[in-house]
Order: sequence, then structure tokens, then C-alpha cells
Amino acid sequence: MSVVKINVLTVPPAMRETLEARFAGRAGMVEKADGFEWFELLRPLEGTDTYLVYTRWRSEEDFQQWQSSMAFSEGHRAAGAQTAPPAHGHPGGVPSGAPAGAPAGAPGGHGGPAASGATLWSFEVVQSAAPAAG
Ligand code: HEM
Repeated sequence: MSVVKINVLTVPPAMRETLEARFAGRAGMVEKADGFEWFELLRPLEGTDTYLVYTRWRSEEDFQQWQSSMAFSEGHRAAGAQTAPPAHGHPGGVPSGAPAGAPAGAPGGHGGPAASGATLWSFEVVQSAAPAAG
């Protein structure tokens, strides 16, 4: 069964647009990762102020492999940058193998100006459904 990894981002109201713009311009590396199944950026409507970055993977190992890969660092360069817009190749990105959900401002540049905090939630899919064909 697949695993779901949700990165919970604390985003000050004034930074929402910046965050969404960053995701709109994201590297698109995750699509190429082995075992990657789904990604959604979820904007809160009510009940919470946090954005959810929903990802689904074939297995825990596939997720771990992506997280310690160059593709992950590449996809998070701007997330750790201290200035916007970040220059390509800014050294402030999330380093390869960085602990998930590390506090904002941790060494290595976790939490740029858009998200002030991040927490990783893990789930396994026990049941799922899709619309019936026809
Ligand atoms: C450690 C703290 C983290 C922060 C502050 C953060 C924030 C961000 C931001 C702002 C972006 C947009 C691209 C950019 O600006 O570089 C991004 C991309 C992304 N994040 Fe994170 N992120 C973190 C860790 C994680 C983790 C643990 C996951 C796993 C669920 C994740 C999943 C993703 C995905 C799938 C993308 C799109 C990457 C691509 O297109 O290849 N992030 N993140």
C-alpha cells in the first residue's frame, strides 16, 4: 500500500501569494522520482491557516530516497533562500538528507521567507476510491 507524506507549512497571511508563486514556479523534479504517485498543494479555506503539501508514494523507501536526492534539494532551493526572488543555484536550499520537518531557520536554510515553519505528517493508505467508470 502507498504512503502519504504531508508537509504542513505555516504561512503568514502576507506570504500566501509568495508561497503559491513559488510552487507555481517549482522545479517539477518530484514528477521524475521513482515511486512518486501524487502531489497537491492544498490552500486552507477554513479551520486552519496551514498549507498542506500532499504527496503520495509507492513505499516509504521511495519517499526516503527522494528526500535524500539531488532532486529534492533542487526542488527546495528557493524554499531556503533568504531573499526573493532567489537566484538559481542559491546555496540556501534544503540540503540533501536534511531532517524532515526541521524548524524554520535551521542550518541549511529551512524555511525561507514564505513558510515560517514546516512539520512532516506520515500516513499509510488503508482504503481508497476513484470515481466509477461510465
Ligand atoms: C523542511 C521544510 C520544508 C519547507 C520550508 C518546504 C517549502 C517548500 C516550498 C516553498 C516549495 C516551493 C518551491 C521552492 O520555493 O523552492 C517546496 C516544494 C516542494 N515541497 Fe517542500 N518544503 C519542505 C520540506 C518538504 C518535505 C519534507 C516534503 C515532503 C512531503 C516536501 C514536498 C515538496 C514538493 C513535492 C515540492 C515540489 C518540488 C518539485 O516540484 O520537484 N517539502 N517546498
